[in-house]
Amino acid sequence: MQPVLRLERLRHFVGELATLLDQGPEEPLILERGGALLAELVGADDWLPAEFAEPHPEHYVQYLLHADARQRFSVVSFVWGPGQRTPVHDHRVWGLIGMLRGAEDSQGFVRRADGTLAAEGAPVRLTPGRVERVSPTVGDIHQVSNAHDDRVSVSIHVYGANIGAVRRAVYLPDGSEKPFVSGYSNRYLPNIWDLSKEAPL
Ligand SMILES: [Fe+2]
Repeated sequence: MQPVLRLERLRHFVGELATLLDQGPEEPLILERGGALLAELVGADDWLPAEFAEPHPEHYVQYLLHADARQRFSVVSFVWGPGQRTPVHDHRVWGLIGMLRGAEDSQGFVRRADGTLAAEGAPVRLTPGRVERVSPTVGDIHQVSNAHDDRVSVSIHVYGANIGAVRRAVYLPDGSEKPFVSGYSNRYLPNIWDLSKEAPL
């Protein structure tokens, strides 16, 4: 028998985040309170439907799990096959990355005076339950890779926009930018609204 998926965790998260954003907070408060909400969401690995944790054999995939009706935020699952990594890229909006399963390494970059990019500090390793932040104000350029060469890792990301539609950039080693709009890998979203399937709280 299939274990019961606790999809209400995702519904609770998007509701709480919308309530937070209704208050019009500054970005540091969004990162702090939103980060605490995301840590709660990724603190349990019993809610993500299997089709949104399915890797692609050749490259990482990004599934949209929920988009705010006013596109103030979006929630995605990032699925890494063994050894897969992103190019160096930016986001242009605030973002929170919560590790659900496995582990990933995020290497930050800064732009040098000559325009090239330099790695900033050591890579940050995310393990289940941990949350990392990105944004143009706290550091927006990074490269992320699956920390494992032999298994799939999954992280849950939240961004301050409909991230799949944001015009942003990937970076070449000489620091030059290539325009990038990520889109999403899925056509349909998880149904978080069928309360009849849930056990009473
Ligand atoms: Fe990123």
